[in-house]
Amino acid sequence: MTDNVTFDPATGLMAGDIQQSQTVIKDMQGLYEDEAARLALPQETAVYRVQSHCREQAGVAGGLFWGTSFLSPGLVGDEYFMTKGHFHGERETAEYYFCISGQGMLLLMTESGETVWKTLSPGALCYIPRRQAHRLVNTGDTTLAVGACWPSNAGHDYGSIRQKGFGVRVKKINGVPTAVPNQ
Ligand code: F6R
Ligand code: ZN
Repeated sequence: MTDNVTFDPATGLMAGDIQQSQTVIKDMQGLYEDEAARLALPQETAVYRVQSHCREQAGVAGGLFWGTSFLSPGLVGDEYFMTKGHFHGERETAEYYFCISGQGMLLLMTESGETVWKTLSPGALCYIPRRQAHRLVNTGDTTLAVGACWPSNAGHDYGSIRQKGFGVRVKKINGVPTAVPNQ
């Protein structure tokens, strides 16, 4: 990957020498509380896509990666669209997130399951400390765009999130985004 890349601060859109990935509803198996509601949705529905500039080799310490996540608005049952969420495979790595557009929440969870959440609106800057899992939730009616910068050796560990989830789920209750304990 080269330095031939652009980043639009108004939208978060990147162009040039970038990587792109998309996550659809069928990829989110087992992550929402209401699995029947997830299965009832068109399985190719886009939940989020990520653009990134990975100038260094993944897994090698010393470099930085840059990217934008675009999370669609939507619900699975009463639970808002969200990212899978992950710990970094290399636990001793932190990350910055910054909200570019939309409304949402960032969930942060320690390895012992203590979960806190931060409200996201444009301009919010969030530091994700080492050893904390992180997940984005779109609580608005428009795309949530969040920029990020993370170490090239961070990696992703999705396993424990798939098994246990986060300490809270974010649901639309009486029209209001509400963090409720994950049973
Ligand atoms: C990188 C990072 C983000 C996420 C992205 C998608 O360390 O935190 O770029 O990878 O928001 O979320 P996940 O990886 O949880 O599917
Ligand atoms: Zn991360």
